[in-house]
Amino acid sequence: MKTRTLGLGGPTVSAIGLGCMGMSAFYGGRGSDAESIAVIHHALDQGLTLLDTADMYGPHTNEDLVGRAIDGRRDDVFLATKFGIKLDPNDPQVRGIDGRPEYVAAACEASLKRLRVETIDLYYQHRVDPQVPIEDTVGAMARLVEQGKVRHLGLSEASADTLRRACAVHPITALQSEYSLWSREPETTGTLAACRELGVGFVAYSPLGRGFLTGTIRTVEDFDADDYRRHAPRFQGENFDRNLALVEQVQAIAQDYGVTPGQLALAWVLGQGEDIVPIPGTKRIGYLDENIAALDIHLTEDDRARIDAIFPPDAAAGTRYPAAGMSALNR
Ligand SMILES: NC(=O)c1ccc[n+]([C@@H]2O[C@H](COP(=O)([O-])OP(=O)(O)OC[C@H]3O[C@@H](n4cnc5c(N)ncnc54)[C@H](OP(=O)(O)O)[C@@H]3O)[C@@H](O)[C@H]2O)c1
Repeated sequence: MKTRTLGLGGPTVSAIGLGCMGMSAFYGGRGSDAESIAVIHHALDQGLTLLDTADMYGPHTNEDLVGRAIDGRRDDVFLATKFGIKLDPNDPQVRGIDGRPEYVAAACEASLKRLRVETIDLYYQHRVDPQVPIEDTVGAMARLVEQGKVRHLGLSEASADTLRRACAVHPITALQSEYSLWSREPETTGTLAACRELGVGFVAYSPLGRGFLTGTIRTVEDFDADDYRRHAPRFQGENFDRNLALVEQVQAIAQDYGVTPGQLALAWVLGQGEDIVPIPGTKRIGYLDENIAALDIHLTEDDRARIDAIFPPDAAAGTRYPAAGMSALNR
């Protein structure tokens, strides 16, 4: 398994991680926990170390699932989880963000328990809390490092300015933000550049565009009733058709390489810099193997230019999240 370093002088992890979210939440079509655990075991058997979860996936059940999967295999894993988004158990659309120091400490205790571990390798703030200075939140996270409960700190969807302020309090090992052919904000808003300036690693979430960039999603009608993508702007009506036309164009380039469009999308992310680690999510061993194989694809400069011409930064029709999700981003 190829490896990459997260941040300047930071930990070494597999060059591709496994997003575990869909095993418990958001994308419907869920199989049994036993199947999901088999996927995680298969990943670890291939030398994939970086597992990504969060307390709000489920909520809470995904951490419990990952905890059961890694029981007895702790040394094979670089375990990343997140705190800070609170779901309303009565309405999954209603969310709160909490970055208060006392909440950080309590959330970490709860995650450690569910994950059945003594230490979390990488602890992210899932969304920046606009009500709490980042210095206070990161200060509380730094205390977790002092206490040995957490090894490294991360932020998710933080702006360049927030990242800079956070780094002044404690080294930040990784910024996790959406980054893929159809989600290019890290380039256009300067967060990727800030990561490079500050020696922060970059973890690319939803690198397959929540599955869309694989070309296998032909209509939202195939999604389960509770699938988040039924409400995601890029999957709606005319946006869906316009975005699919873009995927069909990259499909031709994928064919030249004898790979799938999803593998091409991952190879593109991996080729954007050695400091970037994508974490595609899947519940299936076959997809996992396909995604890992993308590590061996090397796109020529000409083909990268062809892909960039199809998917310039503003190519995608529709925003990444519905309005409430967009307003929770720190920009
Ligand atoms: N920090 C944040 O705010 C945030 C937000 C979203 C996600 N994340 C993290 O990032 C991880 C990955 O993102 P994601 O799961 O949203 O999106 P993704 O990795 O872009 O796409 C996942 C979807 O693609 C499908 N898929 C995976 N491999 C495939 C393949 N080779 N061929 C065809 N389809 C394939 C999966 O299907 P199956 O499920 O059927 O296998 C799933 O529907 C998550 O698991 C989570 O850990 C973080």
